Amino acid sequence: MKRRELLPGIESVGAVDWDRRLFDSLIPLPDGTSYNAYLVRGRDRTALIDTVDPTKADTLWAHLEHVERIDDLVIQHVEQDHSGLAPAILARYPEVRILSTPKAQTMIADHLGIPAARVTPVADGEAVPLGGKTLQFVHAPWVHWPETMLTYVPEDRLLFTCDLFGSHLATSSLFASEVEHLEGSAKRYYAEIMMPFAKTIRGHLEKVRKLDVAVIAPSHGPVHNQPEKILSAYETWVIGPPRNLVLIPYVTMHGSTGKMIEHLVEALAARGVPAIPFNLPVTDLGAYAIHLVDAATVVFGTPTVLVGPHPNVVLAAALTAALRPKLKHAAVIGSYGWAGKAAETVLALAAGLGAEWLPSVFARGLPTDETFEALDRLADTIAERHRGLS
Ligand code: FEO
Repeated sequence: MKRRELLPGIESVGAVDWDRRLFDSLIPLPDGTSYNAYLVRGRDRTALIDTVDPTKADTLWAHLEHVERIDDLVIQHVEQDHSGLAPAILARYPEVRILSTPKAQTMIADHLGIPAARVTPVADGEAVPLGGKTLQFVHAPWVHWPETMLTYVPEDRLLFTCDLFGSHLATSSLFASEVEHLEGSAKRYYAEIMMPFAKTIRGHLEKVRKLDVAVIAPSHGPVHNQPEKILSAYETWVIGPPRNLVLIPYVTMHGSTGKMIEHLVEALAARGVPAIPFNLPVTDLGAYAIHLVDAATVVFGTPTVLVGPHPNVVLAAALTAALRPKLKHAAVIGSYGWAGKAAETVLALAAGLGAEWLPSVFARGLPTDETFEALDRLADTIAERHRGLS
C-alpha cells in the first residue's frame, strides 16, 4: 500500500503483511496483519510514530523516500514488530531524537542495542510541540509489556495507541468504517494479547475516555474513525460479566471422550446453556481464545495418554490459565484405559484460573449409563451456576 493521509499533516507510512500466518511463533494470524507507523508533520518538527517489522523494511523506506528530516522518533512499544527498525532510522537520520517512557529507555538498549543515553525519556502527560501539532504522551504500562505509552495529538483529537485497540488484519482499507466484521479481528487480538492484563486495560480505557478522542490509530489493523465502536466493544470485553456459555476444548482418541462430549453438549442445551466443543487437533486456538473473552465455564475433555491428559489438552489448559479469562467454573471429563491421573494434571495446569472446579467425570473405557448420569448431574450444576447470566 502507498503512504496515505490520515488527516492533514498526518500520514500512514506503515506496511500491510498479507502473508504472515504466525506471530511470536505461537499466535495464528488467519487474516494477516499490518505494522502501522505514522508521520506527523508540524511547522517546526516532524515526528515518526513507531516503525514497522524489520521484514517490511523496504515498505517503510519507500514511504520515507522523500522525507529528508525526522526530528523525533516516538517508540511507544519496544516489541520488535514496531521498534525493530529504530536502529536503521537512527542510521538514516542521525540527528533524530528518540522519545519513549523511562521504562522503555532501558528496554530499547536491551532489545535493540541503542544506548540508553541516546534515548530521551518522556513523563506521563508531557507535551512536545511540533508547531501547530502537539504530541502529548500518556503512559500506559502493561498494554501487554511494561513500557508502553500512547500519544495524543490534541489539535486533531487523534490518539496513537500502539497495540491497544489493534487488530491482526491485513486490509487495503485505511479506516475501520470501511471494513466489515472488524470486531471479530479486534476481539481475537484482545483475547490473545491483552486479556491477561484486563485490569490494567480497564484503567487505560478510563484514561482514554477522558481524552475526547475522535480518531484512534493503533499499530495493527485499520484506524478507528468511529472510536465509540471499539471503545464500547473493549468495555464489554474487559468489564462486562461472563456470559451463559460453556467452552469444551477436547480430544478423543478412540471415541469414548467424544461420546461424553456429545452427551454433555446436548444435556447443557436441554437446560438452556449453550456450549461450544473445540476438537483441539483441528481447532484454531485463536477461535477458542475469542470465546474465552465471554464464557462463564470451561470443561476440558481428555482421554488418558500414558497416565496424563492428551498433550493437546495440556496446551489448552496452560493457555487457558495464561490468558486469565473471566471464567467462573471449570471441570475435567474424559476416559482412561486402566488407570490415570489426567484430571489431577489438568487441574494443576489450570490452577491459576481461580475458577470453581466442579466434580470430574471419567469413564474407564466406554462411557456407561452411570457416566451419562454423572454428566447430567454436571450439566445440572452448570445450569444452576449460570442462572441469571445472559
Ligand atoms: Fe504489536 Fe506488542 O507488538
